[in-house]
Amino acid sequence: MPKKLFIKTYGCQMNVYDSARMAELLTPLGYAETQEAAEADLVLLNTCHIREKAAEKVYSELGRLRQAKEEAAAAGRAMTITVAGCVAQAEGEEMLRRAPVVDLVIGPQAYHRLPELIARVERERSGGLADTEFPVESKFDLLPQERGPQDVSAFLSVQEGCDKFCSFCVVPYTRGAEASRPVAQVLDEARRLVAAGAQEITLLGQNVNAYHGAAPSDDGSSWGLGRLLFALAELPGITRLRYTTSHPQDVDEELLAAHRDLRVLMPFLHLPVQSGSDRVLAAMNRKHTAADYLRIVEQLHAARPDLALSSDFIVGFPGESDADFQATLDLVEAVGFAQAYSFKYSPRPGTPASALASQVPGPVASERLARLQELLNRQQRTFNAETVGQVLPVLFDRAGRRPGQLVGRSPWMQSVHALLPDSARGQIIPVRVTAAGDNSLAGEALDAVGAWVAQPQPLEASAS
Ligand code: 5AD
Ligand code: SF4
Repeated sequence: MPKKLFIKTYGCQMNVYDSARMAELLTPLGYAETQEAAEADLVLLNTCHIREKAAEKVYSELGRLRQAKEEAAAAGRAMTITVAGCVAQAEGEEMLRRAPVVDLVIGPQAYHRLPELIARVERERSGGLADTEFPVESKFDLLPQERGPQDVSAFLSVQEGCDKFCSFCVVPYTRGAEASRPVAQVLDEARRLVAAGAQEITLLGQNVNAYHGAAPSDDGSSWGLGRLLFALAELPGITRLRYTTSHPQDVDEELLAAHRDLRVLMPFLHLPVQSGSDRVLAAMNRKHTAADYLRIVEQLHAARPDLALSSDFIVGFPGESDADFQATLDLVEAVGFAQAYSFKYSPRPGTPASALASQVPGPVASERLARLQELLNRQQRTFNAETVGQVLPVLFDRAGRRPGQLVGRSPWMQSVHALLPDSARGQIIPVRVTAAGDNSLAGEALDAVGAWVAQPQPLEASAS
């Protein structure tokens, strides 16, 4: 009987990707995934530390798991509990002390050692075992190369860690120094993904446009993200490329050229700005000003006029005045975002900003967040509404909630619902948009020559 593995993933796409890789790593140990924590032999919590109360959430989940572990033990079954990800990296051995239910704590730099460490826990099964040290070799060298059946849309991790040290952010501490995979490895993995059915590939990295992977020529030179995208675009079978998440400072000429020249590079970019105030940006150690950001946006639009932007914002950063916040609203007005994430600043222990004296009172930050979100939501609605009547190429990749309905993505990452047979899954189909909601579009699918293949669809009330 295969052993059962339950994985709970918190946080970003990088964690979703890491969870999938860890599941693959554990397959040779006989683990197959289950959706039920209670029946699992191995529970893996892949945690995220980027925002507030992350550690508390993990500890309360561990409280619930303690009961499941006790029940399993009463039934004569051992349950191994492993905490991975950035909370694991930040808490380290402290987690084993505070939550003795945990058998193994493993940081993101050590995932390739997971099978060995799990096997050891299973052997020893007495006391805990922490492994949060940074191994010398890159985790990329040891991740499994073979991959199971893939979705139409796949993620490919090309870069890890970050050297930017924004003063609010834990990533440089939890994910460690910036490291890029060699180009040849990335191209090989992309070929494998395509062979397994992927046609859209999203390159992942905490600071993905800092990518500087070793060149295939092996002459000590390296390629930036732009050059990598040009090479990926040459691979037969890839119809869409995306990358996330980027830093404005690392948008270079080659990347702009990729946006100008590559039709397969989708015209949608997540480019976090965090604030529109130069004073706040300096305190955040962002290394760019509001004017720099606006100039980069202009360059991107010059390269690809239909490019739409998404961003991250933090409000209530220590010392943020009303005027600073107004500068953020002004920047949002100037750019016009298709989509965005906005957060209230939360001090992360160990980061420089957490030691700043001038923390903004909670209610002030909440009020600013509400105002910013109102503006961003309005822009998103406008962006979506502008697509009504247009015909967009939609890559359909999943079933909708209603029978006969498929859901896909527009080039701008909008979810698009249409009535289509299941055989259309995995295809890019032109869709005339008939209705736009806050978060999704509905439309009627046209076949390649423009004939109707399905009738219009009402918007899903609960679509997100
Ligand atoms: N407080 C609030 N938001 C944060 N982010 C990162 N650290 C913090 C923090 N301490 C946000 C940033 C980042 C996104 C992934 O999370 O906007 O871009
Ligand atoms: Fe964190 Fe992104 Fe800044 Fe790196 S660039 S420190 S990941 S916010």
